[in-house]
Amino acid sequence: MTNPAPAAANPAEAGSGPPLAKPDTSPPLANPDIGPPLAAWDIGKTFGAEDGRPVEIIRSISFSLARGEIVSIVGPSGCGKTTLLNMVCGLLAPTRGSVFWHGRELAGVPARAGYMLQKDLLFPWRTALQNILLGLQVKGLGRAARQARAEALLDRLGLAGFAQYYPSALSGGMRQRVALARTLAPDPEVLLLDEPFSALDFQTKLLIEQDTARLVRGEGRSLLLITHDVEEAVSLSDRVIVLSHRPCTVVAEHRIDLPGDRLDMIAARESPEFAQYVRRIWTELDIR
Ligand SMILES: Nc1ncnc2c1ncn2[C@@H]1O[C@H](COP(=O)(O)OP(=O)(O)OP(=O)(O)O)[C@@H](O)[C@H]1O
Ligand SMILES: [Mg+2]
Repeated sequence: MTNPAPAAANPAEAGSGPPLAKPDTSPPLANPDIGPPLAAWDIGKTFGAEDGRPVEIIRSISFSLARGEIVSIVGPSGCGKTTLLNMVCGLLAPTRGSVFWHGRELAGVPARAGYMLQKDLLFPWRTALQNILLGLQVKGLGRAARQARAEALLDRLGLAGFAQYYPSALSGGMRQRVALARTLAPDPEVLLLDEPFSALDFQTKLLIEQDTARLVRGEGRSLLLITHDVEEAVSLSDRVIVLSHRPCTVVAEHRIDLPGDRLDMIAARESPEFAQYVRRIWTELDIR
């Protein structure tokens, strides 16, 4: 069985074009060399409420993340985005459906995934370098190799002079960069980022988005990004998936086609296509 990419919903066609794209609902391929690094097949989640009644949070979501692809998920607050991310990385079992990594059903936590939360969660008693080294302890690398890799990551993220600083002496943007470096340290194939930049000022956010695009696109990784920020989603992503209110389903899916090299977040935001995508997605978000 094939696993076709979903059709794009082009904002230029808004109002007169074809109906919104359906999510990818075909089962992922079984061959790990061909199958997408990550795919969710009809997953749903129901929690037990305080009074014992079941509350359906996610009804049914299917999507895939291809190698080298950046996919953003946007949705109203409380619709189940973090719950979705927890299910795809094996921290939470879905009530229905399945999660596949390279075409194999997920059991446990995937080996080559890096998960980064909204809060930087750095250890305050460890320096920037020591926080990054933590991410490498399980890699089986020698001490010198770990040190060299951590320093190289600091350097790539513009923090070369700050290795010995404790988190309290770093700005919010710098702490987020250290957290990003720690997530990247074990060389994950897939990055799962849950609103990682939402607490940052606009300028810092643009710079870190740019760093992230470089580190993902330049190194053949894949990125699944949860964000409230529609402009961030459009400027950074190859595809944007829009979720509904609870019980959550996929409302729309857009393949983002912007001019330029996709590494320049400012240029990406200047094109007329960008404004069209943003406007269309805001309409679909149906914020009440
Ligand atoms: N373990 C749990 N038990 C019961 N309900 C839960 C549990 N985890 C999450 N929920 C509920 O599921 C819903 C979705 O939560 P989730 O954190 O996934 O939303 P979100 O889309 O990430 O929200 P936000 O945009 O505010 O980050 C919320 O109503 C929350 O109360
Ligand atoms: Mg959340």
